[in-house]
Amino acid sequence: MKFFIDTANLAQIKEAQELGVLDGVTTNPSLMAKEGIKGAANIKKHYVDICNIVTGDVSAEVIGTEFSEMVKEGEELAALHKQIVVKVPMIRDGVKAIKYFTEKGIRTNCTLVFSAGQALLAAKAGATYVSPFIGRLDDVSTDGLRLIDDIRIIYDNYGYETQILAASVRHPMHIIDCAKLGADVATCPLSAIVALLNHPLTDKGVAQFLADA
Ligand code: E4P
Repeated sequence: MKFFIDTANLAQIKEAQELGVLDGVTTNPSLMAKEGIKGAANIKKHYVDICNIVTGDVSAEVIGTEFSEMVKEGEELAALHKQIVVKVPMIRDGVKAIKYFTEKGIRTNCTLVFSAGQALLAAKAGATYVSPFIGRLDDVSTDGLRLIDDIRIIYDNYGYETQILAASVRHPMHIIDCAKLGADVATCPLSAIVALLNHPLTDKGVAQFLADA
C-alpha cells in the first residue's frame, strides 16, 4: 500500500519523506489555508515546493465548480509539475472534467467521495485515484471502512484501474484496516504514520538490549 501524507505543511512533508516511506502528498483548500497560503501565485509556488520535496504524486485541488473553470484551473495546475495530480470534487461537472482530463492525459484524484455509486462514476470517467473520506463517514455514524470494502469489490469485479485512495484517515488503525481491505493508498496525517512505529514491547526490548550491551 502506498502512503501519502495529507498536509500542506512543508516541515511535516520533509519529515515523512526523510522517514523513507512516503509515496505522495494530498492537499485541499482547507489544508492550504491552515498553512496561510493565499493567492493564486503563492498557492502555485507552494505546490511546486511540495513537488520538489517528494518524488511521488501531489494532489492539487481545483476551486471552481463549473466545467470550464475546472478545466482551466486543472490545466494550469497540471502544467506546474509532472508530479501534479488534479483533484476534482465528485459533482456533476467534476465527473465531466475528470473525463476531459483523462482524454487529455492529465491525471486526476476524484475527491469528496462518500458512496460506492460515486466511486463507480469516478472510475467510469477514468479517474486515476478516487478518495473515499472514511473519517468523515465515521463522524456521522456511518462505517467508512465498509465503503473501502465495497469499492474494492466493485473495482475488482470490472477491472477498473482507478486507485482507491483512502482519505480522511484519523488514526493508525484506519491505515491497518485499509491495508487489510486492499486500499491502494492511504493519505494520512503525519501523526497516524508515526503512530505505526509504536509498541511498548519494542521500547522495552530496546531498553533491555541496551542495558545488556
Ligand atoms: C484528502 O485528500 C482529503 O482532503 C482529506 O483526507 C480530508 O481529511 P479530513 O476529513 O480530516 O479533513
